[in-house]
Amino acid sequence: MGRPYQPSLLRLLHGATAVLVPLAWLSGLLVYSNLDGRWGRLPWRIGGDWIDLHGSTGVLLWPVTLLFGVYALSVGRRRLQQPANALALLALALAVGSGKLMQEDWLRQGVLDHWVYGVHLVAWLAIALCVAVHVGAVLQRGGLPLARSMASWRMQANDQPRHWIGQVRRAMGQRR
Ligand code: HEM
Repeated sequence: MGRPYQPSLLRLLHGATAVLVPLAWLSGLLVYSNLDGRWGRLPWRIGGDWIDLHGSTGVLLWPVTLLFGVYALSVGRRRLQQPANALALLALALAVGSGKLMQEDWLRQGVLDHWVYGVHLVAWLAIALCVAVHVGAVLQRGGLPLARSMASWRMQANDQPRHWIGQVRRAMGQRR
């Protein structure tokens, strides 16, 4: 098998997602520990306005997820036939979608029983599990070379930023 290559637009959108998701996940853990803690808290309290940081990460993650979703469902749809890829995208959609319905003040005001917050907590668990399964499946299928191909800077001559619009258009056209 040759060296695996990932399209540059996928690397950009996937990379932005893979940076923002751990930030959102960790800041969410601190928000939960400081303001909820019904199922346990972290042993140390790290003060700070984690809700603000978590919210800002969410604001960035929302458009990135939308673009990544459009990409994955069009240009990348064959990759979505891998169940672990599809699961990671579903968990991401659940986390971002339920987060969008959350109101920042709920936790500050002690509102912990809203169903949207319940869904958001489940999504927080689900994304950790699904991303772990996704990374495990990638390593099992293609080992480190496949995992590394997602973080490579190499760009083929026919896969430059100016080709991105055409790639999406062609993939959308094939659907009809
Ligand atoms: C952090 C959250 C992550 C999410 C939400 C996510 C989601 C996805 C999705 C939806 C795809 C399919 C894209 C398409 O259809 O074109 C994909 C592919 C891929 N991801 Fe991730 N991913 C994440 C993290 C990671 C990490 C940390 C790695 C590093 C090992 C990784 C490695 C890959 C690789 C190598 C592929 C291509 C696999 C293939 O060709 O089937 N992902 N990812």
